[in-house]
Amino acid sequence: MSESEGAVVSELSRLAGAHEPGAPNARDAVRALRPSQIREVANAGFGVADVLPFWFGESDRVTPQFIRDAASRALADGATFYTHNLGIAPLRESLSRYVSALHGATTPAHIAVTSAGVNALMLAAQLVVGAGDRVVAVTPLWPNLVEIPKILGASVETVSLTYGPRGWTLDLDRLLAALTPDTRMLMINSPNNPTGWTMTRDQQRTVLAHCRRRGIWIVADEVYERLYYGDDARVAPSFLDLAARDERVIAVNSFSKAWLMTGWRLGWLVAPTQLMDDLGKLVEYNTSCAPSFVQEAGVVAVEEGERFAQSLVADLHASRDHLVRALQTIEGVDVRTPDGAMYLFFSLPGAQSSLELCKSLVREAGLGLAPGSAFGAEGEGFVRWCYACDPARLDAGVDRLRRFLTARAVV
Ligand SMILES: Cc1ncc(COP(=O)(O)O)c(C=O)c1O
Repeated sequence: MSESEGAVVSELSRLAGAHEPGAPNARDAVRALRPSQIREVANAGFGVADVLPFWFGESDRVTPQFIRDAASRALADGATFYTHNLGIAPLRESLSRYVSALHGATTPAHIAVTSAGVNALMLAAQLVVGAGDRVVAVTPLWPNLVEIPKILGASVETVSLTYGPRGWTLDLDRLLAALTPDTRMLMINSPNNPTGWTMTRDQQRTVLAHCRRRGIWIVADEVYERLYYGDDARVAPSFLDLAARDERVIAVNSFSKAWLMTGWRLGWLVAPTQLMDDLGKLVEYNTSCAPSFVQEAGVVAVEEGERFAQSLVADLHASRDHLVRALQTIEGVDVRTPDGAMYLFFSLPGAQSSLELCKSLVREAGLGLAPGSAFGAEGEGFVRWCYACDPARLDAGVDRLRRFLTARAVV
């Protein structure tokens, strides 16, 4: 650094110091956010040449060709401009027909297009939660739902699912007891990431009635609703089946899972019309709109993608059963068959410290799993395996796990 550069730097530091003493840190609520443990495991595998990655929540398959073609056409036709904050009219119309067919009458005025599910969650939280508010969440849970309200200064109380012979189940009384009159919002994800637990219609009915009485908002993360294998149904039970459109229920959804569009960043919210003007403002200040050619492709996904979604779910169903059967042959692995999503969340020897176990698995066996502790304290002792891939790959992963556990038992 030259002398004059040094003088500039010291002058800048003096000025910065004059306005804000101390180090240039983010605010406390942001600094307190938990970093991703899945990322920590992935980093531990950095440099390992041959890793089978089952740690992230996405398929190993590319988005279907007809959707990619639609995006190419939209780009060629010049769909490169800003759109309405709440999304292009054709997409809101298509989504309103789609949601109506699955869950009952829903108009375009109840739909807002978002930049995927995680942005929809942030917008929903920004709409109803402020500093000091109390939020309740059912865990183990994908961390974003717990961390997002904290960014806004809210406090999050968790109610844990319990693990037993029937897999992960909800103690409904405990959840109702946690939903106190001063609770502002319940965040609930069903089918659930990571456990696959799926809330029953009766449970939803009871929770909805309770939240109605206390004026509590329900933010229902239903991004896995189509990835449901119970009752031969086309879709998991949804709060939208029970709630009127103009009450305190906001449903979050995404194109990522049912149409394999994770990298496109497209999703939607179903919300009361009374929220839409304010939601439009929030979209403006967050992203302004979802990308226009992506929205055009979204119309095609919804209008022409039903057969694809159904065949994807059939494949996932088969992969789930395949992996459960294969894991059950390994001594010490305790695995159950969940009703939804695309993960197995199971316990195995050594998982008492799941983060350390997953780091060893990736380094020593080239097997990439997500540690249960990434999804809350109650996830400790478990690991998450995303089975959205080719069964041959699952078999290769199971072989690596078996060899790893056998070698450890011998040592
Ligand atoms: C429970 C849950 N909600 C929301 C999302 C958001 O997905 P996206 O932002 O890709 O729509 C995910 C992604 O894995 C998820 O697991």
